[in-house]
Amino acid sequence: MSLYINESTGVDDISVTGSQDQPFKTPAYALFSAREDDEEPKLFVFKKDEEKGDCFVEISASALKKARKGSDGLKKKLAKQLELEKKKQEKDENEAAKKLEALNIKIEEDKSLPEAIKCKIQKSYDAVDQRVKVSGWIHRLRSSKSLVFIVLRDGTGFLQAVLTGDLARAYQTTALTLESTVTLYGKVCKLPEGKNAPGGVELLVDYYEVVSLAPSGEDAFTNKIAEGADPSLLLDQRHLALRGETLSGVMKVRAALLRAVRRFYYEEGLTEVNTPCMVQTQVEGGSTLFNLGYYGEEAYLTQSSQLYLETCLASLGDVYCIQESFRAEKSHTRRHLSEYTHIEAELCFLTFDDLLVHIEKLITTAVRYVLEDPVAGPLVEQLNPGFKAPTMPFMRLDYRDAIKWLNEHGIKNEEGEDFKFGDDIAEAAERKMTDTIGVPIFLIRFPVEIKSFYMKRCADDANVTESVDVLMPNVGEITGGSMRIDAMDELMAGFKREGIATDPYYWFIDQRKYGSCPHGGYGIGTERILAWLCDRFTVRDCSLYPRFTGRCKP
Ligand code: 4AD
Repeated sequence: MSLYINESTGVDDISVTGSQDQPFKTPAYALFSAREDDEEPKLFVFKKDEEKGDCFVEISASALKKARKGSDGLKKKLAKQLELEKKKQEKDENEAAKKLEALNIKIEEDKSLPEAIKCKIQKSYDAVDQRVKVSGWIHRLRSSKSLVFIVLRDGTGFLQAVLTGDLARAYQTTALTLESTVTLYGKVCKLPEGKNAPGGVELLVDYYEVVSLAPSGEDAFTNKIAEGADPSLLLDQRHLALRGETLSGVMKVRAALLRAVRRFYYEEGLTEVNTPCMVQTQVEGGSTLFNLGYYGEEAYLTQSSQLYLETCLASLGDVYCIQESFRAEKSHTRRHLSEYTHIEAELCFLTFDDLLVHIEKLITTAVRYVLEDPVAGPLVEQLNPGFKAPTMPFMRLDYRDAIKWLNEHGIKNEEGEDFKFGDDIAEAAERKMTDTIGVPIFLIRFPVEIKSFYMKRCADDANVTESVDVLMPNVGEITGGSMRIDAMDELMAGFKREGIATDPYYWFIDQRKYGSCPHGGYGIGTERILAWLCDRFTVRDCSLYPRFTGRCKP
């Protein structure tokens, strides 16, 4: 048999015949294409010859030798490929058989077992040796040869569960995904010494139901919330990110902190009130007001409930509120939010010193309550290992002494110069000072000019006010407070100094007319005190759905 080769027009393919009209491209392929048991074909190679004309000539001996080698190589390659295909087919068949077997496993409850008691995970820790029924989200999922491990989450805690035998092999189990919801039935077993799991228990699952299966593949939860993803992408997926252990842990501490603050206020006899968020007055300067169209009138989102709290003193005595405050902040820093939860209190018939003692008592007591809480206490230790609760009294640092301290430590003001009386101590300088000193500080007696219109002047120095900022290491200011001007003429002068029209404030001014009293109060940024307590880099990690410049979703 003769086979023809043309290196420029030929094709190495099974469909090619190797005739002069349909030549192969290479001699090796031509030999490879011949049947094993036939005689070796004669090969003719196309040759361009301008004198005699183009023609096919018999292949040279050396080229033929090379072609045989090439053909052997191709044969080996083919054999390898066939082997691989065979193995794959066997594997597919094996898997199909396993799947079929798995599909045939019916997950059914054994009715002879004791009835399962429905409970939340937190309660299951105390149900050792009992058969329980627990619903939740699959937080972690891992399978080894014949076991499937699930860590279930229900918001009250985490429960390690193990599936064995048919339950582990059932197709339904192999198709489980992270964040699917399930109801697990089984016996709670105490873990042996040396083994660790939440609550010191493990659930030996004997039956389970799938409530809702979360997607796998491209849409899988882990693809939405990839570790180390860009913070802005994680914020877009905040509704999913909140399921993580850190964020949900902070939210639990947050709830415990607010509970602790309310408990302290209750014990101290303060009454909780709810003040309006839609207002027509400013408290902390016009530049951070959010404007609100209000049926054709100008209105704002509240910056602070202080003025309203002041109006409650005469009817309810000492009061507090825990409410959102809004600031159209120009500062894009790690401690500024556009919306934050403001803990504010107002107290009457007290001195500036009384106010300071009240604030340090609130902070130390609330922190103690949080640390004593069986859920929040361990979470704080986890988030902020080695955290030491602050003790009373807090350090009192006069503004004038702070200025001296800053200058002595070479810390400059915003203009890059030495601090002078009347300078605002901006965030960076304040942080450096607070972090260096390393303990909670009451920074007191700020100059009149850098504080709000309502702050009372000190009796011994009319240039400064009875004001306080509480500074905490790693965060800086977490609280701002002061005694309030209680004399009518002084208050009017304050409005005038700040260029604020007094008409909209008639109800606030009236407090100085109908039985004025010495009073003072403060506001704590919930997210800031949490950032300190839980050692978070930014207050954004301490808010459920943080709002800041450029972010108002989800
Ligand atoms: O110092 P501020 O502005 O004081 C007041 O609003 C007073 N009227 C409160 C009062 O006396 N009732 O704010 C008080 C605290 C700050 O110390 C800070 O913790 C928090 O509120 N805060 C903010 N937190 C997050 N983002 C912001 N943009 C904040 N602005 C203030």
